[in-house]
Amino acid sequence: MITRIDHLGLAVHNLDTAVAYYEKALGLKCEHREEVPSQQVRTAFFAVGEVHLELLEPTSDDSPVAKFLLKNGEGIHHIAFASSAIGEQLTQAADAGVRLIHETPFAGAGDNLVAFLHPKSTHGVLTEFCAPISASESAN
Ligand code: CO
Repeated sequence: MITRIDHLGLAVHNLDTAVAYYEKALGLKCEHREEVPSQQVRTAFFAVGEVHLELLEPTSDDSPVAKFLLKNGEGIHHIAFASSAIGEQLTQAADAGVRLIHETPFAGAGDNLVAFLHPKSTHGVLTEFCAPISASESAN
């Protein structure tokens, strides 16, 4: 079950200048930075109430975010829904005919298990499901 919007992923060319924008122009505070080798990105997180912003800078030209930036430029990259059961969430989407990018969840940023739905199946929105690794039924 989807319980809330966990975060919005925002693709940026340069994490440092983007963090400076959110801190100086919007007055938000960067809570956490992390490199995610599985996605070839460096990330920075900001809390906005119970929703987070996840800034994403690619660490290689092969990164999915590098490809996104090349095609679309900077901007909103994905929406992430917190799910109480990420495996069931993927099964439900697949049963509804949605194309999965990941059949099984993997370790993403912030000690979460994550998996993505393909934007061609989701009306143009790259969609992530996430659940804390400790709380997930599929943490193997
Ligand atoms: Co994300």
